[in-house]
Amino acid sequence: MGASIPDEIERLRRELNEANWRYYVLDAPTISDAEYDRLLRRLERLEAEHPDLVTADSPTRRVGAPPAERFARVEHAVPMLSLSDVFDERELAEFDARVRKLLGRDEIDYVCEPKLDGLAIELTYEDGLFTRGSTRGDGFAGEDVTANLRTLRSVPLRLRPEGAPRLLEARGEVLLLKKDFARMNEQREEAGEPAFVNPRNAAAGSLRQLDPAVTARRPLSLFLYEIGRASREFPTHWEKLAALRDLGLRVNPRNRRCRGLAAVLDYVRETAARRNDEPYEIDGVVVKVDSEDERRRLGFVSRAPRWAVAYKLPPQEEATRVESIDVNVGRTGALTPVARLKPVFVGGVTVSNATLHNENELRRKDVRVGDTVLVRRAGDVIPEIVSVVLEKRPPDARPFVFPDRCPVCGSAAPRPEGEAIARCLGVSCPAKLREGLLHFASRPALDIRGLGDQLAAQLVESGRVREFADLYALDEEALLGLPRMAEKSAGNLLVAIAASKATTLPRFLYAIGVPGVGEATARLLAQAFPSLRALLDASEEALQRVRDVGPALAREIRTFFAEEQNRRALQHLLDAGVRPEAPPAATRGGVFAGRTLVLTGALSSMTREQAKA
Ligand code: IVH
Repeated sequence: MGASIPDEIERLRRELNEANWRYYVLDAPTISDAEYDRLLRRLERLEAEHPDLVTADSPTRRVGAPPAERFARVEHAVPMLSLSDVFDERELAEFDARVRKLLGRDEIDYVCEPKLDGLAIELTYEDGLFTRGSTRGDGFAGEDVTANLRTLRSVPLRLRPEGAPRLLEARGEVLLLKKDFARMNEQREEAGEPAFVNPRNAAAGSLRQLDPAVTARRPLSLFLYEIGRASREFPTHWEKLAALRDLGLRVNPRNRRCRGLAAVLDYVRETAARRNDEPYEIDGVVVKVDSEDERRRLGFVSRAPRWAVAYKLPPQEEATRVESIDVNVGRTGALTPVARLKPVFVGGVTVSNATLHNENELRRKDVRVGDTVLVRRAGDVIPEIVSVVLEKRPPDARPFVFPDRCPVCGSAAPRPEGEAIARCLGVSCPAKLREGLLHFASRPALDIRGLGDQLAAQLVESGRVREFADLYALDEEALLGLPRMAEKSAGNLLVAIAASKATTLPRFLYAIGVPGVGEATARLLAQAFPSLRALLDASEEALQRVRDVGPALAREIRTFFAEEQNRRALQHLLDAGVRPEAPPAATRGGVFAGRTLVLTGALSSMTREQAKA
C-alpha cells in the first residue's frame, strides 16, 4: 500500500487547490471537471472517515454553513469608495489635465481596467487563510457574506504560500459571465421561476442568499482589482495587481499599464470596440493613477478618489415607454408583434421599435401599451425588450390581445398546434406580397437596385404589382404615376428590372421564396436539378437526395411547386423573359476547392455579392 491517509489527504487538497488556481487564475485548466469531482469525492470520503483530519481551508469545506437568519454587519476598515464618472474623451482629458497639474508632471502612468458590472466585495485573509468576505454595502459597512463567498471556487480558501502577508483585504467584483447568466435564466424559466433581468442583478441576488447552498449552485465569477488594508506596501498599483495574482487571486488579464493620456484613449477605444465580445458585461473603463505615492498626494474629494475615474460607455439598457403594439406581417405571412417605443438612446443608437418575436414571447413578458420597459441593444444585435418595470405599470393597462386574423388583409391567421408563429393564410395578402417583392429584389436574389420599402408598398397598394411577373410589365408611365417618383430614378429602376432577367437558377430559387429554402439550399438544389423544369417535377424522394434536404423540407418544396397558383406565377416570370440559367458546373481544383470561406465587412475592391460569385 502507498501513502498514509494524512499524506493522501494532503496530496488531494494540494491537487484540488492547484486545479482551481490553474482554472481560475491562470485560465489554463489542466484537469477535467470530471477528474476534479473524482478527487473531491475521494477527499470527502477520507475526511468523513477521519473527522480529526478536517481543516477549515479544505476544499471540501466550501459549502456546509447552515442558512443564516440575516447577514451580520461588517465595517470596512478602509472605506470602499465610489468613482467619479466621465462620459467622453474630452472629460477624460480634463481629468488627466487636473492630475498632471496637481502633481506637476507632464505625463502620468495609469493603469486601465475594464469596469466590471457586478457587485463589489472584499475578501479578508489572515495569515493566508480566508477569514471573511463582505459586500461593499454603503462603502463604510457591508454585509458578512463569508459563507457564500466560500462557495466560489475562484475564492482560494488559502493564499499561495510564498510571501502571504499577515493581513490582506483584497477587493474586487463578483459577476456572472454572460453565458452562465443565459443558462441560469433558461433553467429558471424551465422551473417556472422568474428570470433575472441582467447579469448584475443575478449576481447580486445569488451572492446575497441567506442559504449558502443556493449560492453554491450559482456559477458566480470573481476578479480582484484593489487592496484595502495589507501588512505590506506596494509602490504601484501594477505591482499590487501582480501581487494579488501571485497570491493565487484572480486578476483581469485585460488590465493594462498605460503611459499618458494617448495610451489611455487607445485602451478606452479598444475596450469599447470589444465590449460585446467580452464574456462578461462591462459598463466602462476605470483609469487609475499607478503610483501609490502620487495617489496619496492627490487624495479624495467627498467619497471619490482624485486619482481615479470611471469612463462610462454608453448604456446598453434604458427604460422607455411602450406607445403601441403593432403586428407586422412578413413575407411568409408570419405575424410578428412589434412594440413602438418612445424613442430612446441605447447602445449607441436611437431605438423606437423592438420586436416581441411572437405571441408566446409577448405573453411571457406581458408587455402592455403604456408600460415602462427596459430596452437593451448590445452591438449590432436587434433591440430587445428585457422586461417590464411593473412598479410603473399604469392601473388601466390591459393585456395585449393577439389577433386571430391578419391585421392587413383580414384573412384567418391561425397558429398551428405546437408552433410559436401564427401565419396569415390570405393568398393575395398585400403585406405578404410587399415583403415577398422586397425579398425578390434583394441583393442575393434578383438584385434589383432601387426597389426599396416605400416603392414596394406603393406598387402593391396601387395594384400595379399583384405578382412578381408584373414587375416586368412596368414602364416609365406607370412608375411616374407613383408619388415621389422622379424620371431619373424611374429610368434606373427599369434598367435594373430588365437586367434582372438574366439571372442564375440559385438566385431565382432563392428569390421566389420557397419556404425553408435559403441561399445555401437554393445552391444545392440548383446543382442537383440543373433546370427549373426538372425541379418542378422532382419527387420528394429525389429532393431528399440533395444534401441538407430532409423529409420535412422535401415535402414543403414539393407542396410549393405542386400548388397551381405558384406554377402559374413561375410560368408568368418565364413568359416575361426571366431566364434562370444553371451556373457553370463547379470547377474542380483551384485555390478555393474544399474550403469554406466567410466574407464579412466591406471589401475594398468589390462588393460582397461579387466576391461570393
Ligand atoms: S476600483 C476607489 N476597479 O465600480 C476605487 N472599481 O464606482 C474603487 N468597479 O464599487 C473601485 N470594476 O463595484 C474599481 N476595475 C475596477 C472596477 C470597479 C468595477 C466598480 C466597483 C465600485 C464601483 C465604483
